[in-house]
Amino acid sequence: MSGKFVTFEGPDGAGKTTVLNRLLSNLENKLGDRLVTSREPGGNNIAESIRNVILDRENTKMDSRTEALLYAASRRQNIVQTVKPALEKQKLVICDRFLDSSIAYQGGGRMIGESLVYEMNQFATEGFLPDLTIYFDIPVEVGLQRIAKNRKSDDIDRLDVETIDFHKRVHHAYQEIVKNNPKRVKVVDATQSIDDVYSDVVSIMNKYVKKFME
Ligand code: TYD
Repeated sequence: MSGKFVTFEGPDGAGKTTVLNRLLSNLENKLGDRLVTSREPGGNNIAESIRNVILDRENTKMDSRTEALLYAASRRQNIVQTVKPALEKQKLVICDRFLDSSIAYQGGGRMIGESLVYEMNQFATEGFLPDLTIYFDIPVEVGLQRIAKNRKSDDIDRLDVETIDFHKRVHHAYQEIVKNNPKRVKVVDATQSIDDVYSDVVSIMNKYVKKFME
């Protein structure tokens, strides 16, 4: 497989989606069908159906492990149906969130435990990991303030009504992931302006997935 698989990660409110959209519209012009985009949970019809179950505000009774299994199921379908076939065709695949999100949110946030969530996901991923992960680093309070400022009240989904402690645990788990995976995970300071974050992301991509950026 000589394509490249790049994932974007970070806590809520880090500006990940805004920067990602800007990057994708530029790359689409340059790469055309050599670029494939995906997101988790989701990425194709089956995985998007699973996403709807997970993020449904009505599903307040969902057990943490059920949730973790659904994320892993969605991931499996994303890998098998979307990501790997594109990599085999030498494409650049950019995915909004991947395994690290489960480790941080279900392992840390929901307190299932990072290593247990990692182990459970091995069934879904068979050890498959991104070539590069760009992590949007932002203090919990700053991220949550941004969310509160930017959104309309009908945007709130089930995960967003979690407590600040939940977000602190997510943040802590992400810090551990960054520390333990220095080769794969590159950090951008997401407290900067969107323009500066964007240019840091482009520099990282220029360095690590050069052939798609020239
Ligand atoms: P989304 O609306 O895509 O949020 P964002 O724009 O911040 O990425 O919702 C994804 C939510 O799902 C987000 O709060 C993180 C959560 N999530 C998990 O808890 N575990 C996972 O494995 C993944 C992929 C996402």
